[in-house]
Amino acid sequence: MTSTPAPRIRPRRLRETPALRRLASETRLDPAELVLPMFVREGASAPLPIASMPGVVQHTLDSLPAAIDAAASVGLGGVMLFGVPEQRDARGSGATDPEGILNVATRVAVEASAGRLVVQTDLCLDEFTDHGHCGVLDGRGRVDNDATLERYTAMALEQSRAGSQLLGLSGMMDGQVAAVREALDDGGHQDVVLMAYSAKYASAFYGPFRDAVESTLEGDRRSYQLDPGNRREGLREAMLDIEEGADIVMVKPAGSYLDVLADVAAASDVPVWAYQVSGEYAMIEAAAAHGWIDRKRAVIESVRGIRRAGADAVLTYWAVELADWIRKGDVA
Ligand code: PBG
Repeated sequence: MTSTPAPRIRPRRLRETPALRRLASETRLDPAELVLPMFVREGASAPLPIASMPGVVQHTLDSLPAAIDAAASVGLGGVMLFGVPEQRDARGSGATDPEGILNVATRVAVEASAGRLVVQTDLCLDEFTDHGHCGVLDGRGRVDNDATLERYTAMALEQSRAGSQLLGLSGMMDGQVAAVREALDDGGHQDVVLMAYSAKYASAFYGPFRDAVESTLEGDRRSYQLDPGNRREGLREAMLDIEEGADIVMVKPAGSYLDVLADVAAASDVPVWAYQVSGEYAMIEAAAAHGWIDRKRAVIESVRGIRRAGADAVLTYWAVELADWIRKGDVA
């Protein structure tokens, strides 16, 4: 009988007590690195629940200030606003109308936040077009890259005039960062931050978002969003956006693209964010509603995983609730 020698190296030592685990934790969570996406609907009289995103609503201009206040009170880093217009057309005219819902909501949010968090806006046409694409179409029904850039620059100027401090360029048009940067600089908006959704994949996980913005899409987005199998190309898009002047680059969705996130985080010299999208939210909520998963642990683990992979900040629909848990020391 030979006896097995006792191990000399015992990694379990650091896991023995809650205090040791807390001390040894490599990835801490902080409300300041969380951004809450918010939907604001034109012409609504009361906040409307979004069926596929339990717990998330379409705000009205009246319900928005209290929600901004709640986000600021728990210490969130920012909010990202999306507009849900009543009318849509081929050009997405509502996006460049100073009285369009997103621009009006921005002014309301900036006032309510009183500088406590960063008010950010989605810079994309899909919420405003009747065909649901992120750009304008050419005579053959294809998304016209360069004609879309002209719409984005006009949109960027209106959002900046409305007081948005950070524009989220989510349309995946080539050259959009450079075009918008130049237009803003020429227009005297040098200080407005550009966050590029650099590696935005053509994903099934945006499904519930379509409900949230009440948009229907003709066709799909595969001619401009990335192919889910392409890792190198995600990094390339991020590097191009940094060259074009992006202040922040983003990977989206988050959970299924952690390898891309890690690659971008390793190569980037600007902050890297990730967007935990509507479908990632809906999956955990649905499983939890069935009692198939521990909701709180799953939420914390999913966001911690995104941070561990390299995200400096995370857009998540759980931002307020998660920030509350963090503040209570309740995220172990
Ligand atoms: C584009 C945009 C989308 C999302 C954020 N910005 C939709 C899309 O590209 O299809 C999706 C976010 C989510 O699913 O939570 N305006």
